[in-house]
Amino acid sequence: MTANELRRLYIDFFVKNYDHKEIRGSSLIPENDPTVLFTTAGMHPLVPFLMGEKHPSGTRLVDVQKCIRTGDIDEVGDDSHLTMFEMLGNWSLGDYFKKEAIEMSFKFLTSSREDGGLGLGLENLAFTCFEGDSDAPKDEESFGYWKELGVSEARVAFLPKKDNWWGPAGQTGPCGPDTEMFYWTGDEDAPENFDTEDSRWVEIWNDVFMQYNKTEDGKFVPLKQQNVDTGMGLERVIVALTGKKSVYETEMFKEALSEIRLLAGYSEPDEVQKVSERIIADHLRAATFIMGDQMGISPSNTDQGYVLRRLIRRAIRHGKKLGIEGDFVRKIAGIYVKQFGDYYTELNENQNFIYEEITKEEEQFNKTLHKGIAMLEKQMERLEEKKSEGVKAFEDNFFFEMFATYGFPIETTIEELEESGWINGEDDRTFVNEKFEHYFKEHQDKSRAGAEKKFAGGLADHSEEVTMYHTATHLLHQALRNVLGDHVGQKGSNLTADRLRFDFSHPEKMTDEQKAEVTNMVNAQIEAALPITMEEMSVDEAKEKGAIGLFESKYGDRVKVYSIGSEEDGTLFSREICGGPHVANTSELGKFKIKKEESSSSGVRRIKGVFVKEG
Ligand code: ALA
Repeated sequence: MTANELRRLYIDFFVKNYDHKEIRGSSLIPENDPTVLFTTAGMHPLVPFLMGEKHPSGTRLVDVQKCIRTGDIDEVGDDSHLTMFEMLGNWSLGDYFKKEAIEMSFKFLTSSREDGGLGLGLENLAFTCFEGDSDAPKDEESFGYWKELGVSEARVAFLPKKDNWWGPAGQTGPCGPDTEMFYWTGDEDAPENFDTEDSRWVEIWNDVFMQYNKTEDGKFVPLKQQNVDTGMGLERVIVALTGKKSVYETEMFKEALSEIRLLAGYSEPDEVQKVSERIIADHLRAATFIMGDQMGISPSNTDQGYVLRRLIRRAIRHGKKLGIEGDFVRKIAGIYVKQFGDYYTELNENQNFIYEEITKEEEQFNKTLHKGIAMLEKQMERLEEKKSEGVKAFEDNFFFEMFATYGFPIETTIEELEESGWINGEDDRTFVNEKFEHYFKEHQDKSRAGAEKKFAGGLADHSEEVTMYHTATHLLHQALRNVLGDHVGQKGSNLTADRLRFDFSHPEKMTDEQKAEVTNMVNAQIEAALPITMEEMSVDEAKEKGAIGLFESKYGDRVKVYSIGSEEDGTLFSREICGGPHVANTSELGKFKIKKEESSSSGVRRIKGVFVKEG
């Protein structure tokens, strides 16, 4: 069973047998949602519809969603953790509920391959249900349905909220009890009784009964409609079905791992090499998907771009550990584009962008990597006598300097110090992170103050320029709405040190007059030297204050709102929900120019904008 086959099998099963409509999975970047960096489950993009909004494709949907969970990055290297994974899901939006959902799951798991199912034997399956608490009752109902289907009572366990409850994805939103399905991966026959502590039982699927809305005051209020959200881990199912011990032994990673071994010059890894090659294979797969996403993210020092930078740089560092000489990350990215591009067509469409960005990042990091490692080693040697003091022996600003001078993300420095025994445990890590944060903030404040001066001389560093383009993007967004109309909404944004790129909804090519009007409006705000202020508030307040952004899919109860100009003196120009950062005053920006206006996809236009460096 390959990934392509499993996706097809799953989708066809629900389309043919149960009248579901196939929908495309969404971007890895939650649209206009500053409270989470990445899509972590299939439900993110569907929250408005779980809350009651009508979905254009109906009430029964099936999809495959690419997901990223950054909390797992440090676990990567073992048999099962992945940074990027695919989730298969069938959805009922106020349509069927527990009985039907459980029956569908059962049929897909146990029907033979000829009948379009996975053909798993009931003797290898076990189940969990919610045990109940003061928020919601014990789920006897689900238990009853499993039994009706022939599952023995000894194979069903009841577990508390921390195990058998899903959502909300943030602080508030749709959630509910779930029932989970486990598959036996042991060598001997599966035991009669289901022991939930036995890790040979692997969770492969989760049916969530989303019937509550968790509100800001922590209450669970019944939703307008009862929904089903299921999530089946594609990689895990393939492991289970193929009888492999690890996701890294499946066809999904075969080609990438062979290439890594070829480059490193060994055929079978030892235990240490195994961890490194898995980290490389995992991180570059996730990085390829992030760059190749509909939203096209580049490595940077903020938000998703920073996670991407960490992934690529960590992969490069492990490449060096394996003795890989020269550039290699583009090669591995190419393997994944070829392997996943048929289904995730965005990878094919964006392949040039992926290759350019990943090559640039590797070149940049390689320039300083050796020097950085040498610097670290020199410091550790110098401080050897003080090793009993641990990380406190280092100069306070050392960790930030590793980043500023050698491009080492703080996590990379921490990892190096851990491996050489300078960091031991959570307290040490916190200490280093705090020192880093302190100097990082100080640096940011300084560079903001000096930005105007430096910019004129073309000396601004990358993160400053990106921040400037970020603020210019808000000006552009509002100017487009003023000139073209309120139908203009952000569809994507991508910033580098050299330009902004902004995708927005608008049905037709902009005229030269419209472009000139937008440009002049942006430049007028820059000349007016407007202050930029940030306030944290609830989504409702933000809405009331006229902030733009997509409100329906907010999970967090509080959001950051950036205003350009001030209400008091009537200069308020833009107000937008956003994670930041921004410059302090529009006078720090250069003169703005639209370099290109083109079609991005149907109904979506793309603008590339730059600052014209003058004087
Ligand atoms: N949203 C559920 C999960 O991620 C299905 O497990």
